[in-house]
Amino acid sequence: MNARIHYTKPSITEREVAYATDAAANGWGEKCYDYLTRFEGAFRAHLGVGYAIATSSCTGALHMGMAALGIGAGDEVIMADTNWIASASPIVHLGATPVFVDVLADSWCLDPAKVEQAITPRTRAILAVHLYGNLCDMDRLLDIGARHGIPVIEDAAEAVGSVWKGGRRAGAMGAFGAFSFHGTKTITTGEGGMFVTSDPALYERVLTLSNHGRARGQTKQFWPDMVGFKYKMSNIQAALGLGQIERIEELSARKRAILAYYKRALVHLPSVSMNPEPEGTVNGAWMPTAVFSRASGITRERLQQAFAAKNIDARVFFHPLSSLPMFTPKPDNANAWDIPGRAINLPSYHDLTDAEQDTVIGVITALMEQREPRHA
Ligand SMILES: Cc1ncc(COP(=O)(O)O)c(C=O)c1O
Repeated sequence: MNARIHYTKPSITEREVAYATDAAANGWGEKCYDYLTRFEGAFRAHLGVGYAIATSSCTGALHMGMAALGIGAGDEVIMADTNWIASASPIVHLGATPVFVDVLADSWCLDPAKVEQAITPRTRAILAVHLYGNLCDMDRLLDIGARHGIPVIEDAAEAVGSVWKGGRRAGAMGAFGAFSFHGTKTITTGEGGMFVTSDPALYERVLTLSNHGRARGQTKQFWPDMVGFKYKMSNIQAALGLGQIERIEELSARKRAILAYYKRALVHLPSVSMNPEPEGTVNGAWMPTAVFSRASGITRERLQQAFAAKNIDARVFFHPLSSLPMFTPKPDNANAWDIPGRAINLPSYHDLTDAEQDTVIGVITALMEQREPRHA
């Protein structure tokens, strides 16, 4: 049996180890924010935004950003049914309602036409999640937002390295963007996230919220002006993050090369489609994903069994959020409900070898060659 082929794993070099070691040994007292300041600055520069606040998670960044936009009880936030729950839970915690709409069949991201149909007088935001590194159609979503006076928020947890038309980076186009540096992501701090915006007033509100409601101009000690949050990143995590963002070109290029390798081997097969990259955009390729046609007869369960048999950690495509027990089922979201049953996320950590990718590809081609049981 081959050694286990993991689905994701970070790429940590001597640079990250040196920074984290320095932060642990020296990053205290007057130096306790040094790596945080450097990481936020480097991330801001990479993205081309005005402001960045490092957080303990992307979920925390979304929670504070939505709170700062004033989203609360009785409000609605439109988002794709295909998502990780982390995008929806801050909406629920704020007392608002996530309104799940269908995704496009090719990008697996928000269908702009469905977004427009779902707008009501209670809609307070459109949450655009760039799934697996694929980009939402930001031109159409921003246009819908502008016409209806509704902010577009970008959940770019999975989209560091993705660039929309005109060189605009994922996370830098909406009212605010949120990123994740969880250990599975393209760049990591173990756990962690980033809130970004170019709106100075929104930045000030989130900065205050992120400091337990203590405004930075407040001179009284231990004096919060409002109830806030505690979603901070530590200086030690930021040291790791600085090392990672300094390597962003290399790390993104490697993720893209892994996706391209899979695509070269698989997308000529008539039943397979993978992460798209529309003209003029860059897919950051966080999670190479294969979706099989209905006619192929290939199911999630068959894929899971075949990969498990080869000791390969392949993961299922996100279940529709509206199929989870705490929400109301919306099976009319046909793509969101149908695609997961015939799709799989493929291993893509930076140090994956060509031989390991060939093993993964071999599992898929063997499955395609098997006759479908019902035709056997
Ligand atoms: C689309 C999406 N949004 C939000 C999150 C939450 O990120 P975090 O775990 O950093 O809170 C994730 C994490 O996997 C994600 O994939």
